[in-house]
Order: sequence, then structure tokens, then C-alpha cells
Amino acid sequence: MLLLNEQEMRAAVTCEDIMEAVEKAFLLFEKGDCKMADRYTASDKGNTMLYMPCFVDGVIGTKMLAEFPGNPAKGYPYLSGLMVVNNAENGQPEAIMNGSVITALRTGAVGGVAMKHFSGPDTYSVGLVGCGVQGVHQLMYACSVRDITHIYLYDVPEKDLKPFISKLKEMIAPKTPEIVICENTTELLKNSQVVITATQARKPLFPNDPALLEGKCFIGIGSWQPVMREYPEAIWDVVDCVYTELPFACEESGDLSQPLDSGALTMDRVRYMGNYLTRKYAGEEIALGKTRFYKSVGMGIFDAMAAKKIMECAKKKSLGKEISL
Ligand SMILES: NC(=O)c1ccc[n+]([C@@H]2O[C@H](COP(=O)([O-])OP(=O)(O)OC[C@H]3O[C@@H](n4cnc5c(N)ncnc54)[C@H](O)[C@@H]3O)[C@@H](O)[C@H]2O)c1
Repeated sequence: MLLLNEQEMRAAVTCEDIMEAVEKAFLLFEKGDCKMADRYTASDKGNTMLYMPCFVDGVIGTKMLAEFPGNPAKGYPYLSGLMVVNNAENGQPEAIMNGSVITALRTGAVGGVAMKHFSGPDTYSVGLVGCGVQGVHQLMYACSVRDITHIYLYDVPEKDLKPFISKLKEMIAPKTPEIVICENTTELLKNSQVVITATQARKPLFPNDPALLEGKCFIGIGSWQPVMREYPEAIWDVVDCVYTELPFACEESGDLSQPLDSGALTMDRVRYMGNYLTRKYAGEEIALGKTRFYKSVGMGIFDAMAAKKIMECAKKKSLGKEISL
């Protein structure tokens, strides 16, 4: 069995490799070529364990994530975990790797795929609300998909963004876009063509003003529980429809469940990315509207396909350590 740590995982693949694995995951999911349970969670004292098994493409990927909201204040990451890859023919474990790195790489790639399909090819500016682990990976993929010259950042005022900016510069080198810290999200909106949100917010991050939101491409990463929400009702005045991953997202994410409950959003305006990509690759022209919105909640199939790609690439490059249990 191959054991891969963070450095080996990152050295094994490029952004393009993981985006290719994620696009394939969307297409296989649309065809029904996978067996994946709804995300199973167990919680205690506000901390949650998530278990995400998926049979797909010759492997079984299982990610186990610990989500501990109090961790950043104690110096630990918000998310940590393990990823196991088993052989789908005989069930034997084939690889074990860092679950937080898989999460960050595949979630970054989901944002990258959304940006590739929903943002204009001449996009040069991107705004990020939520300068954490997912945020830095979202920007890494954004810079790999488009020629980004301007990055706008916003986080809670008490957060020192210097360590984040150093990490970001390291991850996107040799690219050197101008990086600006915004006073508020209105300033960020006014400057950014693509806006990415990756926070644990429970209230909308932006003013409820359609004029501020119009004409942009939004990528929502944060809200994955009904009480979590990043977008105001005004978004539904400016988008034709929202793209997401699967119907369960409408129950899981407050960005979808709350406007569905209030009537601001109706199910006929909820579309699925796998269906979009399948139709687009079959040659269909799909009108997206002037303002675009991709809302991600994540799926186990992304982890399984990304882990499979990392395992295969690592083997080719002789990275990692063979161990027996
Ligand atoms: N869609 C997916 O597939 C997916 C995958 C992984 C994580 N997530 C979610 O993404 C979110 C971020 O995860 P992370 O690992 O990057 O966490 P993190 O703690 O590393 O980063 C989150 C950042 O958001 C900031 N933030 C929180 N509330 C804010 C607010 N109201 N305004 C501005 N900034 C705010 C925090 O200060 C922090 O810098 C979490 O909700 C997580 O569950 C989604």
C-alpha cells in the first residue's frame, strides 16, 4: 500500500491533472457510473466527522474528515482528515493519503472547472472572501485557468492576512498579480469580475443589492449546512439559474435551502454541472445569463477521482512510501 504525505501529493500532480479528474467525476456522476452514499456525518459538541465513500472508475475512495470549528483559534486547521483508496475488484487498500490536502486540491479544482466554464476568457480580476485553506487553493486554480493580474481579498477585520498573502505568492509563483486587501465586500465586488466565497458564514457576506452583484461570476464554496449562508437574496434577481453538484445540495446548503424556503429560488432554476458539461461536450450551446453562480457543496466522487489520479501519478514518479499493514 502506498503512503503519501502532503509534499508527495502536491509533487505528484498539477492543477490541470486534478481539474481533469474532477471534470471526469462530473461526467461519470451524470451517467450514474458510480455508487456514492449521501455524506454521512456524526457530530458532538459542535464538532463533526464526515464519511464519504464512493465506488468509481475501478477504485473505492473513502474520505474521513474532522470539521472542528474551534480549531483555528487553537492553532489547528479547521478541517483535517484521511483519504483511503481501495481496489474495487478485491477491496484491498491501495493507498492512504492526507485528507485535508485532497479536500483542498479537489475543491480548488471544482472552483477552477466552474471558472473555466462560467467566466469570460478575458477575466483578469478575482475577489476572494474567506482567506483560509480553501481560499488559497481557489486562487491557485483561478490563476491556472485565467491570466489573473488583480486579486482582491476580504476576511474578518481581526485576521492578519500577511501569512495568507505569503502562502498565496508561493503557490502561484512565478505569477505576480497585484494583491489588494479590501475594507469591505462592496469594494471587493466593485473590483472583481469573478468572486469566490470560502467562509463559514451564517449570514450573507454581501449587501442585498442586485446592482452590486450583476454581471459577475460567483463561486460559492463555504455553505454546506442549512444554517450556513454566504449569498443575499438579491443574487436571485440577477442570475437566471444556479449550477450545483447534486440535488442533495438543495437540502444541505443554506445558500440554496433558505431561498427555496422563502420562494426567492424555485427548483426549475437549479441546474447540475454534470448535466451542463455532458451537454456542452456533446456540442450544445447553453445560455448562461449575464450573471453566473456556481454553488459547491462537494461530493465523495471528487475525492475518489482526485485520489486515484494522485496515486497513479505518484507511482509513475516513484513518490511515497510502500508500507504493509
Ligand atoms: N464546497 C466544498 O466542497 C468544500 C470543501 C471544503 C471546505 N468547504 C467549506 O469551506 C469553508 C472554508 O473552509 P476552510 O477549510 O478554508 O476554512 P478556514 O478556516 O481555513 O478559512 C475560512 C476563512 O473564512 C473567514 N471567514 C469566516 N467567516 C467570515 C465572514 N463572515 N466574513 C469574512 N471572512 C470570514 C475566516 O476568518 C477564515 O479566514 C468551510 O465552511 C468549509 O466547510 C467546502
